[in-house]
Amino acid sequence: MHLPYRSIALSLVFMGFFAIVIDRAQAGGGHFFAPASAPETQKECGSCHLVYAPSMLPASSWTRMMADLSNHFGEDASIDANTARIITTNLVAQAADNGGQNFSAKLMRDVSLSQAPLRITELPAWLDKHRKVPDWEWQHKDVQSKSNCTSCHSTAAKGYYDE
Ligand code: HEC
Ligand code: HEC
Repeated sequence: MHLPYRSIALSLVFMGFFAIVIDRAQAGGGHFFAPASAPETQKECGSCHLVYAPSMLPASSWTRMMADLSNHFGEDASIDANTARIITTNLVAQAADNGGQNFSAKLMRDVSLSQAPLRITELPAWLDKHRKVPDWEWQHKDVQSKSNCTSCHSTAAKGYYDE
């Protein structure tokens, strides 16, 4: 008489577990930042660094950045106009103020859309989240730059930043 009851209880536990996993993958839980969906973005914006999640900056930032790729943080990242247009459309469509994602809203705290900040690593909420990271860690030979997200967040390219 115990067995059927037990297996029902067990499968309920399992269903609960899967519900959480699926919820996290789809709704993204708290810390999911969907990767850029266009293959062009993955290819062109991933050759020098991680393809930063479009939902980490507002649309105005992406438009500003894409308008001046020849002067990109001291590097020439320029590409042909057609590809640039495709990438801009992709970044803007998934931008922090377009995606309506939970965690993007937090990242956009105190961000001025008209100023269109170019660095995720200078957003007030980003700095807040990383306040406890000690200097020696930033300077570690495997990190060296705050922009090097993957050195600490191994799953960053997939959109997960839980460490
Ligand atoms: C030729 C190399 C190169 C290419 C190609 C390139 N970048 Fe960059 N990017 C850089 C460098 C260098 C930095 C500054 C990194 C640092 O400070 O450590 C940077 C920084 C950034 C940052 C700021 C990161 C931060 O600190 O928050 C963003 C956002 C960014 N790039 C987006 C893009 C996008 C979008 C594309 C594709 C259109 C792109 N990059 C293509 C070299 C490149
Ligand atoms: C030197 C290591 C390091 C680097 C480099 C780094 N982070 Fe982090 N990041 C952390 C740590 C540690 C935390 C957790 C802070 C906490 O929980 O208080 C964190 C937290 C976060 C969170 C919040 C997740 C949460 O649980 O609330 C996000 C989002 C994030 N980082 C994004 C980024 C992005 C984007 C980059 C690159 C532009 C980056 N990080 C670079 C160490 C790093």
